[in-house]
Amino acid sequence: MPADRPGRYIYIRDDSKDEFWSATWQPVLKPLAEKKGQGSRVRGQGYECRHGMSYTTIKSEYDNIVAETTYFVPLKENLEVWLFSIKNNSKKKRSLAIFTYVEFCLWHAIMDMTDFQYTLNISKAVNEKDAVYHLTGYFPNVGRNDFAYFASSEKIKGFDCDRETFIGPYNSEANPLAVSRGKSFNSINSGGNPIASLCNRITLKPAEGKQFVFILGTSDDKKEADKFIGKYKDIKNAENEFAALREYWTKYFENYAAKTPDENVNLMVNTWNQYQCRTTFNWSRSASYYESGIGRGMGFRDSNQDTLGVVHAIPDKVKARIKELLANQFENGSSHHQFFPLTKKGEKGGYSDDPLWLILSVSGYIKETGNVDFLRETAPFTDSPHEEEVFEHLKRAIDYVAGSLGPHGLPLIGFADWNDCLNLMGKNKAAESVWVGQFLVWAAREVVKLSKTLSKNDDAKRYTKLASDMKDRINSLAWDGDWYIRAFDDDGNPVGSSKNNEGKIDLLTQAWAVISGISDDKRSVRCMDMVKRHLASRHGVMLITPPYTTYDPKIGAVGTFAPGLKENGGIFCHANPWAMIAEAILGRGAQAFDYYRKIAPAFRNEIADIHQTEPYVYSQYIAGSAHPAFGRGRNSWLTGSAAWNLVAITQYLLGVRADYEGLVVDPCVPAHWKNFKIRRVFRDAIYDIEVKNPKRVSKGVKDLVVDGKRIDGNIVPPFKDKRTHKVEAKMG
Ligand code: GLC
Repeated sequence: MPADRPGRYIYIRDDSKDEFWSATWQPVLKPLAEKKGQGSRVRGQGYECRHGMSYTTIKSEYDNIVAETTYFVPLKENLEVWLFSIKNNSKKKRSLAIFTYVEFCLWHAIMDMTDFQYTLNISKAVNEKDAVYHLTGYFPNVGRNDFAYFASSEKIKGFDCDRETFIGPYNSEANPLAVSRGKSFNSINSGGNPIASLCNRITLKPAEGKQFVFILGTSDDKKEADKFIGKYKDIKNAENEFAALREYWTKYFENYAAKTPDENVNLMVNTWNQYQCRTTFNWSRSASYYESGIGRGMGFRDSNQDTLGVVHAIPDKVKARIKELLANQFENGSSHHQFFPLTKKGEKGGYSDDPLWLILSVSGYIKETGNVDFLRETAPFTDSPHEEEVFEHLKRAIDYVAGSLGPHGLPLIGFADWNDCLNLMGKNKAAESVWVGQFLVWAAREVVKLSKTLSKNDDAKRYTKLASDMKDRINSLAWDGDWYIRAFDDDGNPVGSSKNNEGKIDLLTQAWAVISGISDDKRSVRCMDMVKRHLASRHGVMLITPPYTTYDPKIGAVGTFAPGLKENGGIFCHANPWAMIAEAILGRGAQAFDYYRKIAPAFRNEIADIHQTEPYVYSQYIAGSAHPAFGRGRNSWLTGSAAWNLVAITQYLLGVRADYEGLVVDPCVPAHWKNFKIRRVFRDAIYDIEVKNPKRVSKGVKDLVVDGKRIDGNIVPPFKDKRTHKVEAKMG
């Protein structure tokens, strides 16, 4: 099946030649940019596709007719604009017909896929003036007012609302009958597949051009739709909305910008990585090219992690999201695994790590904003309207996980932990996760810091002890000799151990030993060295090795993937930043940066044919060395890879991170970097930071000068004065 055919077509037909092509190349596939010899192209033909921040522009040239379409969604409107321009570059007058085409889904996503005998008999689409209205499910008499519409800014010469009629028998979208014969059928749709196709006709003198706006919208108010259709009759309004969108992104990126010696880093950090973080924050795992919108919804752990990638830019939206997440916690401290944004219904799942991610998002929000009072705000539970303070929610999360321990005194793994596919639980209900133990230590220590800011000394004491007991337990039970084991299975046998035949070593428990601070220096260095030796590859760090060769129900769904794919020894881009962070904590800048560049999309542009997914957004994973497609990315866009890679590069490698007391400056970079700059908004002030590295070290700030004054330590205090402050950090 052609995978990249999202609809939204514009067919251009030259009436004098009875010939047609697509303004977007697909679906007609007329050769536009056919190469004639090396590097040159056929005169009057060409193709270009550009993706920018919230827009895509596709330009094509065929037979000296240049067409350019920019697709975008205005900031505050429920509609998509296609800003279309067409120009005659030939020496003759040309008569052209423009046919647009969109196909509507049948309103109810699940029924649209499963119950055609019903849906294909309820569809309805009609024409009115220069628009098509899709009215399946539109019954205002019973208060069902939702509909969709598609409209042209210009007077139309014909329309089609019915797919079968427009396409014609034995044809496809590549050669619709209406287009090939040069005339719409003016069909309405009443049962069958509803579409919107509008036909405009133009005559262009040599060098003459024309612009159109097409809008595709959804509404529950006919007057509102008519208002937008009227608004976009004027091209200027579309141009203004596009300018507003660009302005929005320019402002957004002013919150954080870095200038490093590496252009690929700059490209990722200043633009694309932040953009992906924002997209991921908006959509969680709800709907994308890989998620259907009805399967996964808002992941509880995912959405908590997603906040890390945007909290510097949209703290208020993050706060609102955290409140939503808090309301998905149960009174006993456990939480939903995912919930659906439209119905608000949640699913539990029994993943052992879920509850703890709240501590990551809340502490991240407080570090960024300094809003400690947030801990005293209240939120309800999913199983009770009773409200408790945010701080209490966090305590319950920890207490729940700390209260669900197995035979070794480590957290029971439940259905799974962060690794959805490590399903170790059997009839004994005894499988335990070493990684959740480490994560619990990290979370408990964070809550200790929060307890202290609230002067809750008893809590501080209790969680200090909890963390230290768990740390000791992990160190005495889970050290395998060269690395930390990953788990104990249902029979108490180690998983992720040199004693296993498969899945001998797992990235998570090594990186998190360092991140959680449970390992001493010797073990930290040793286990991260073993990550390098056993898991690192030329395309990134694999999650486990060797992969499982078959499905063993005692190990879980991980073995259902082919070796090298996804959690079964794939290069999980979500977990790679944990290796970068661990290396940065250890001060090994070259290694941390090497892990960074191995998976960062901009660097992989050089091998785009191997990588396959977009060379500007992170994929969930890259196939590991055990798979024939080693190096191939899959499941791009909505993934924890976005936020965590941004955290790793900005907070641990470039090393400027928000903490409770201020902005920590603690870079860990390749030693050959001479200097770099960061401009960052933080708590109502702007920080212009320059890091110099005269001694060519990897880590360690020797001098910190803020607004001309030397300060002790490496924390820049929050000024909250809306001014710009100059920070000079000298490494050495
Ligand atoms: C997917 C899930 C995430 C999970 C990860 C590892 O990315 O969205 O929640 O932690 O896989 O299994």
